[in-house]
Amino acid sequence: MNWQEELRALDIPIRYHEPLAKHTTLRIGGPADAFVEVTDVDALRKLADFTRHVPVLVIGRGSNLLVSDNGFRGIVIQLVDAFESLSADHERIWAGSGVALPRLARFAAHRGLSGLEFALGVPGSVGGGLIMNAGAWAQQMSDTVRIVEVMTHTGELLSLDAHQAGFSYRRSNLSNYFAITRARFDCVSSTVEQVTSEMQALYQQKIAAQPFAEQNAGCMFKNPPGDSAGRLIDACGLKGTRVGDMEVSTKHANFIVNHGQGTAADLLKLIEHIRHTVHQRTDIWLELEVRQVE
Ligand code: EPU
Repeated sequence: MNWQEELRALDIPIRYHEPLAKHTTLRIGGPADAFVEVTDVDALRKLADFTRHVPVLVIGRGSNLLVSDNGFRGIVIQLVDAFESLSADHERIWAGSGVALPRLARFAAHRGLSGLEFALGVPGSVGGGLIMNAGAWAQQMSDTVRIVEVMTHTGELLSLDAHQAGFSYRRSNLSNYFAITRARFDCVSSTVEQVTSEMQALYQQKIAAQPFAEQNAGCMFKNPPGDSAGRLIDACGLKGTRVGDMEVSTKHANFIVNHGQGTAADLLKLIEHIRHTVHQRTDIWLELEVRQVE
């Protein structure tokens, strides 16, 4: 049996040639050979087995992905249902990896639990946010996460502590595993009013400083030590620079927005132009924050 036949035998709905542009916030990316929504750990374990024969990519909410126009030759998995569960026990929150970060932030705020206020303005999922240690306004995922449950490529579930997850600025070693299944966040007790008002204040700051309504993937580049990639790109006069429909945001220069018909090829050209211009002027080579999929 080839992998396509094996996949069909699992009896889960499969979408063939699914445009990944539908699943990325930048709205770019060609088709995946096969796209499946996985609803529980048992089904996920069966798919882990496929990694022996075919590339398998687990995606969250597609908010930090730069998918090539050629798409993905293999199976793309989105984690739904059981992976979207949320529960709280005193100050501890268990969140499935498919939970949207804004939902996690609101869940914590409704219980007066502090530590995840920043997440209201982060459009990713718990899994994706953990892999890149997402953060904003001096908070990041690694401040509150205590346990990350992952599945290995052989289908085994492991509970990692934050040290084993290897967090640093916009990094972790979690992408070495097949998938993240859920995580435990240990928050600090406060009041609903206090956490909600802090969360709303951060959200307003985001709306004021960053493009919001337009399609984008958050910050394109990591900040170099001691500086801001946005400040550097802006200082090079690159705001508003455009390739096709992809444009350096005029609001915050570390964001690239898609005005509608942008492609990955346009975006890659723009990225190279930004990198070379910033390098020429400052000697700094900007590192991508978005995850490239080809
Ligand atoms: N700046 C400019 N021009 C710009 C953008 C920024 O001069 O176009 C200046 C600002 O005036 C400020 C400095 O650069 O003096 C820093 O800007 P900002 O406060 O916007 O922070 P940042 O370093 O650009 C980081 C994170 C964001 C996060 C914000 C707020 C990274 C790569 N970026 O941006 O995270 O939302 O701080 O805390 O770490 C993300 O990671 O996707 C992201 C958006």
